[in-house]
Amino acid sequence: MCSLPTNQKRLCTNKEICTRELEVLAKTQKLPYCPIAFKSGQDALLYDYDGKEYIDLLSSASSANIGHGNKEIAKAVYNQMSKLPQFAIAYFSCREAVEYAEKLIELYPGDNNKKVIFSSSGSESIDATIKLSKCYTSRNKIISFNGAYHGSTFGALSISAISLNMKRKMGPMIPDIYHFNYPICIKCPYEKCESSCNLQCLKEIENAFSLYLPPEEVAAVFFEPIAGDAGIIVPPKRYVQALAELCKKYGILFVVDEIQQAWGRSGKFFAIENFDVEPDLIVMGKASGGGLPMGIVMGKTEIMDSLDAPAHVFTMSGNSTVCVAALKMLEIFERENLVEQSKTKGEYFKNKLLELKNKYDIIKDVRGLGLSIGVDLDNKISTTKIVYQCQQNGLVLISIGECTLRIQPPLVITYAQIDKSIDIIEQSINALLDGKISDEALSVINGW
Ligand SMILES: Cc1ncc(COP(=O)(O)O)c(C=O)c1O
Repeated sequence: MCSLPTNQKRLCTNKEICTRELEVLAKTQKLPYCPIAFKSGQDALLYDYDGKEYIDLLSSASSANIGHGNKEIAKAVYNQMSKLPQFAIAYFSCREAVEYAEKLIELYPGDNNKKVIFSSSGSESIDATIKLSKCYTSRNKIISFNGAYHGSTFGALSISAISLNMKRKMGPMIPDIYHFNYPICIKCPYEKCESSCNLQCLKEIENAFSLYLPPEEVAAVFFEPIAGDAGIIVPPKRYVQALAELCKKYGILFVVDEIQQAWGRSGKFFAIENFDVEPDLIVMGKASGGGLPMGIVMGKTEIMDSLDAPAHVFTMSGNSTVCVAALKMLEIFERENLVEQSKTKGEYFKNKLLELKNKYDIIKDVRGLGLSIGVDLDNKISTTKIVYQCQQNGLVLISIGECTLRIQPPLVITYAQIDKSIDIIEQSINALLDGKISDEALSVINGW
């Protein structure tokens, strides 16, 4: 049995765990929220070390789409771990990795002439995609968007543009990255109306192509089909289609980062399916390993085969245990029709939030697709206080951007749990309006 360090007793409460965490884990891995440590979970419910129950509206950053504590997956993982936990797929073949790749290829929009690369995180898969784009096109330049979060490895960090703390003292980034404005219609810098605008924000890219950015030197455009950490922003379909066309026109690869939005989150298996566009490459992570670490790039065979071995090899990636977990998750997804559940429950949740918006002036916008919903509040202080109060009252809810509530529960959340979540949010709004949420919230919570 593994023994604890000398003189150290087993940590048993939220407070003990969170206090010790500050002493042993580097602060870079932490975005401070309330001091809570989860002990267990079942479907969309979580339980902390003090025995308190929560409804999960975060899904471990949109990675627990199937919910918590799934016994079927646990059993499949146990069986595989007892037989052979992993053996590096770089050297010998793995049936489960082949079977999972086959399934993923079937899911890809368009034809089946696709291949897969496994990694162990979303960020690594973004790096794989940067390598693929450069190798396949023999071009160097990459376009990405302001507000994008693509991950923390050097490549993913270089194309991200969401937090100065991520980049400070880190330079030089990988060169030749160009960031443009994401189409955020509610904050349109041209003050245009979404239905009648002439896609002025896309023209910013076209202008660059005519002034300083030779399009024939651009390898890829990296695009989040719903801008997740920027505030769950759904772009206009016209924009996404025109961007994909622009890429096609200049031989630029259109890459979609589905790390946060795939696996039914948006009411379709891939969020890009909401826009009727077939991307050249899709990047996934988070939910893709059924609760174990997994990153995926998939795309057209000729692109995927443009990298020679060992240009992107990881010892543990795509191992038999994570693939068994993923295959079991996929089976459950299909059997339980979870993508459809996301769509219908998402509509229900959004309508309830819109009802709250009609009642309370502090709610400025409610948007999203499926169970990927953003709620804008009037300012940062109210947002922080509401998040704090919800966490106190048993709701796992965080904010992103300046003042957006991030609502991405496990797809197995029940209608009763949605109703209860709405009650807790409404009670928190009333507590805020009555001046009952202390300023302590502002020192405890210090998200992105
Ligand atoms: C859109 C998006 N891309 C990339 C990443 C990075 O994935 P990972 O944390 O698995 O490296 C994230 C994680 O939050 C994400 O939301």
